[in-house]
Amino acid sequence: MTDQQPITILCLASEYKGLPFIEECARQGARVLLLTAEKFGDRDWPWDSITQHFNMPDLHVQPDIIHAVSYLARSNDIDRIVALDDYDVATAATLREHLRLPGLGETQARYFRDKLGMRTQAAANAIRVPAFTPVFNYDLLRDYMARVEPPWVLKPRFEAGAIGIRKLHDSEAVWRALDELGDEQSFYLLEQFVPGDVYHVDALVWGGEVVFAVSSRYGEPPLSVTQGGGIFNTRLLPRDSADFKATTGLAADVFRAFGLARGVTHTEFIHAHHDGQFYFLETAARVGGAHIDKMVEAATGVALWQEAARIELASVRGEEYRVPEHRQDYAGLIICLAREQWPDLSAYDEPEIVWRVPRENHAGLLVASPDPERVSQLLDAYNERFARDFLMHAVNRKVPRTTF
Ligand SMILES: Nc1ncnc2c1ncn2[C@@H]1O[C@H](COP(=O)(O)OP(=O)(O)O)[C@@H](O)[C@H]1O
Ligand SMILES: [Mg+2]
Repeated sequence: MTDQQPITILCLASEYKGLPFIEECARQGARVLLLTAEKFGDRDWPWDSITQHFNMPDLHVQPDIIHAVSYLARSNDIDRIVALDDYDVATAATLREHLRLPGLGETQARYFRDKLGMRTQAAANAIRVPAFTPVFNYDLLRDYMARVEPPWVLKPRFEAGAIGIRKLHDSEAVWRALDELGDEQSFYLLEQFVPGDVYHVDALVWGGEVVFAVSSRYGEPPLSVTQGGGIFNTRLLPRDSADFKATTGLAADVFRAFGLARGVTHTEFIHAHHDGQFYFLETAARVGGAHIDKMVEAATGVALWQEAARIELASVRGEEYRVPEHRQDYAGLIICLAREQWPDLSAYDEPEIVWRVPRENHAGLLVASPDPERVSQLLDAYNERFARDFLMHAVNRKVPRTTF
């Protein structure tokens, strides 16, 4: 590549997200080709930052997507392909393999998308995971159920947002569930349900090293929130805490085991009640959902989507990437489904509130403070108030859920 030739980044968007990524690319003079799923094609994308826009009915249909992108490549010298949505990570990998471009290839992308792939690779690298089994061979499945105490979760390998996860208490229930799934069953794995608190590490990786990381703890575990209809909350952990050190250290182990060279990540762990150990839950090669990027930015000033773009462009240019100077403050988020279409949060007026979730049927606040204790106090108090003021109970839910 010569200096005169602008960098061309192809962004895949099966969802409406990643806007700051696109804007940063354009700000640095890169050409952005945006390929959206039709459904999201007419959203409020940052059109001034987009060189060309294309729509497809569905970005996952093969060979249509390979044909479409190869056709684009005839007139565009594409440097990088980027997945803006988690569901685009595998497609982006397939396209990179096809066009022989750098970044996550298919095998590696599996570690970040396929829950069986990430379990197997983590276990092979001595990272603690819930006892698990694939759903291929029935003898092995029977052995597993005889050996590993229930309850288990039967979990889709390629979903997000706790979609399709079922907690099962005996082998009869598993066989019945597999019967119902029919040919879909091999797209699931079975693993032990490990009761505990769920933590997430949001990190930037460069040169195979974690160069930025914050660690946070969800209030209720995401499964209880999405399936039990509770209140979502999460808060950053004190940077000098043992949990912070343990989880960020484990996240680095995961990235090493998965051979991740660079990029933005969201990784989850369960802090098990029974033994106090952290179990690797899952990782994703993307910015965390549920406005976690906003929380990280409120605490540190680091905008993960923008940094993801800076990392990508630095790698195209063969330049060093450096995390910008940033604050070491704290933040927390609280969100729930609300009975009202536009709930009234005006009674929530503490100065630590820095943002309100602008979404129908949702009540949501982001708080920030230099003091992690203050963030925790506020979230705990709001949790009780949200339950009274806004919470729509599971039976009444008609609105889509949030993805974590
Ligand atoms: N083995 C497990 N033990 C306990 N809880 C689990 C387990 N697997 C999943 N969960 C619950 O389900 C939620 C979603 O599971 P996860 O593997 O993170 O998939 P997703 O991609 O849907 O977020 C977790 O946050 C946790 O609350
Ligand atoms: Mg998860």
